[in-house]
Amino acid sequence: MSSTSAEQVPASDGDGSEGRRSFLKRLSAFGALISAGLVSFPVLRAIFPPTARRLKGGNWVKVADDTALLDIGVPIRVNFVQSVDDAWIESRTLNGVWLYTEDGEKFKAYNGHCTHLGCSYFYDKDRKDFFCPCHRGQFDVKTGKVLDGPPPRPLDELEVQVRDASVFVNYKDFRLGVPERIEA
Ligand code: FES
Repeated sequence: MSSTSAEQVPASDGDGSEGRRSFLKRLSAFGALISAGLVSFPVLRAIFPPTARRLKGGNWVKVADDTALLDIGVPIRVNFVQSVDDAWIESRTLNGVWLYTEDGEKFKAYNGHCTHLGCSYFYDKDRKDFFCPCHRGQFDVKTGKVLDGPPPRPLDELEVQVRDASVFVNYKDFRLGVPERIEA
């Protein structure tokens, strides 16, 4: 009788160390799995980076709160900071546009970079045109057309929307130094 009862008891060293070994083996396998995941994730991100650069909140930027407060016939420069996601790195860039209206209803906006080599240009009050000091480029305020100097194309005009008296611009950058307007 006693032999039957002994066969039903599982083999054991009697002090529980077998169970502990098995638990430690499983724990170490789990740890190895987590480590492999942590190492391979950045590697996979480097091999397959996100395809598009995204601007947080889209490209639309508010450049004026109230159209009634804007000067008529005199352009104003508006600077703003944008957050840019490039792969997994977030960076901030300072951009700017020139905003112009002749009637307070319809607006023109130009990218703040000169189309030659990207310098910032300014409004020359005496000549009433835009002037780029880097290589003496000149642009017409009403059309963005090149009046003088080396810029290969007119200023890059941007899409404008007026929403509830606020002015928004669809900000984009373009390739510099070429006659064609190609989005950067
Ligand atoms: S960068 Fe403006 S004229 Fe050269």
